Amino acid sequence: MQSIIYLLLTALLSPSVHGCLSGHRHEINASYIETQLKLLGARSQRTPPTGKTALTNVRIFDGWRIREPSTVVIDGDSITFDPRGVRNTIDGEGGVLLPGLIDSHIHLSSLASLETLSSYGITTVMNMGCSNYTLCAALRDQIGLTSFITAGEGAVAPNSTHAKVFGSRGFVNLPSQAPQFVANVFGNGSNFMKIISEPDGFNQAIHDALVNATHALGKISMTHAQDYASYEVAIRSRTDGLQHVPFDVPLTVEMAQRIERQAQFVTPTLNIGKIATSNSTIEAIVSGGIDLTYEAGVTSVQRLMRAGVPLLAGTDAIDIAGSFLKGDLIGITLHQELQYLKDAGMSEVDVLRAATVVPATWHNLVGRGSIREGYRADLLLLKPGSDPLRNISKTMDIARVWNAGIEYVPGRG
Ligand SMILES: *[C@@H]1O[C@H](CO)[C@@H](O)[C@H](O)[C@H]1NC(C)=O
Ligand SMILES: *[C@@H]1O[C@H](CO)[C@@H](O)[C@H](O)[C@H]1NC(C)=O
Ligand SMILES: *[C@@H]1O[C@H](CO)[C@@H](O)[C@H](O)[C@H]1NC(C)=O
Ligand SMILES: *[C@@H]1O[C@H](CO)[C@@H](O)[C@H](O)[C@H]1NC(C)=O
Ligand SMILES: *[C@@H]1O[C@H](CO)[C@@H](O)[C@H](O)[C@H]1NC(C)=O
Ligand SMILES: *[C@@H]1O[C@H](CO)[C@@H](O)[C@H](O)[C@H]1NC(C)=O
Ligand SMILES: *[C@@H]1O[C@H](CO)[C@@H](O)[C@H](O)[C@H]1NC(C)=O
Repeated sequence: MQSIIYLLLTALLSPSVHGCLSGHRHEINASYIETQLKLLGARSQRTPPTGKTALTNVRIFDGWRIREPSTVVIDGDSITFDPRGVRNTIDGEGGVLLPGLIDSHIHLSSLASLETLSSYGITTVMNMGCSNYTLCAALRDQIGLTSFITAGEGAVAPNSTHAKVFGSRGFVNLPSQAPQFVANVFGNGSNFMKIISEPDGFNQAIHDALVNATHALGKISMTHAQDYASYEVAIRSRTDGLQHVPFDVPLTVEMAQRIERQAQFVTPTLNIGKIATSNSTIEAIVSGGIDLTYEAGVTSVQRLMRAGVPLLAGTDAIDIAGSFLKGDLIGITLHQELQYLKDAGMSEVDVLRAATVVPATWHNLVGRGSIREGYRADLLLLKPGSDPLRNISKTMDIARVWNAGIEYVPGRG
């Protein structure tokens, strides 16, 4: 059984720590998968009958500002502004209405995690690697819960850190093998490609071939890179999404400008950087002797920001029981990431965009990330008086959440 820890962007590792890390593997075993498949299969996938529901007196975040109180109507799974035929009315009491939040980098494998995400107003997640395609298919499109959009098996170099330490088996040996590997990823229903760039990983030619093969299918690729040298390889490959930022040496202004010119985007995942660099036990496990600092990550983010690179909010949260990444929890960490991005220097409005309209645009999530006519009714209503444009931590003041028009009520399943 394949380890899934390799899916972490954590790979803040070096080869010198193999022995140390071997005690930190977390397997998702067959019985865990079977239990999850049973739980997911037992949920009703029938859409409950709904008429139109009007949310009155809500202050819409329109992607730039918070508007005067108005009415939004949920019609089935979609948003409309047409109030004709409304059957139910919910008074928003002047609360801010946000598009459901998007976590652009997560690792999850359970029904419970979809419920937790919903309770935190996170209605779409980008799962950054799949270790069992049957389970990934079952997690997708669970009616009334957070949407699960997923990578396939991540591509890694044989004998690399991800292979040796995390047990990843998505091997590619030569550029000529890339098209078949990529075809398998998409043949198994994956939404996007995941590639690992690390110091003992692929050479440039294999990276390029994986990215090219992905683009040849009209799909997009995400590349894990958390150190300076691996970041450069990822930039040159013209991968679409760079996952993490260098936490050893900040990327340069020139690199940031090149990322912008090449229309790449970055999901910095300051959350995992914070976790890895603020607990000496964890840092020793993941750093492998490379000096990692949170500040290097923050400087990287600031340079990306100034270069105008699209920045997406993602956490690298993982739901494997007993993970050594203490505190890397599903749900709450996205709200923390918003705070970290704010603290790094982004404005509140750009932070909110990083969790809504920006990931929708760059991940091609058509009809999501904004409150517009015909868009999916993924909505987060905040409590009256809570304004995240004044204080970003107010995204935690959650009143109600809808996934594709179905209100999430904890415990209702
Ligand atoms: C399988 O994984 C689960 C969750 O990590 C764990 O609780 C359980 O003990 C494991 N079962 C076996 C047979 O290894
Ligand atoms: C997923 O895991 C289940 C349970 O171990 C197994 O039966 C199935 O073959 C696996 N599916 C894939 C595609 O690996
Ligand atoms: C991996 O390492 C082993 C021994 O350490 C070596 O025999 C093998 O050729 C290597 N494989 C690749 C693909 O480099
Ligand atoms: C799914 O992936 C496996 C390798 O992981 C591959 O053998 C299989 O052909 C793929 N299925 C499809 C339909 O592409
Ligand atoms: C990838 O595509 C680029 C741009 O089309 C091309 O210059 C490069 O040679 C390709 N590389 C590989 C390894 O396919
Ligand atoms: C640091 O991480 C280790 C490994 O996960 C954990 O056992 C320990 O409790 C953590 N320490 C603190 C102070 O959180
Ligand atoms: C932002 O709100 C949090 C709690 O929601 C509060 O603790 C904090 O002091 C507020 N910050 C500012 C600058 O008002």
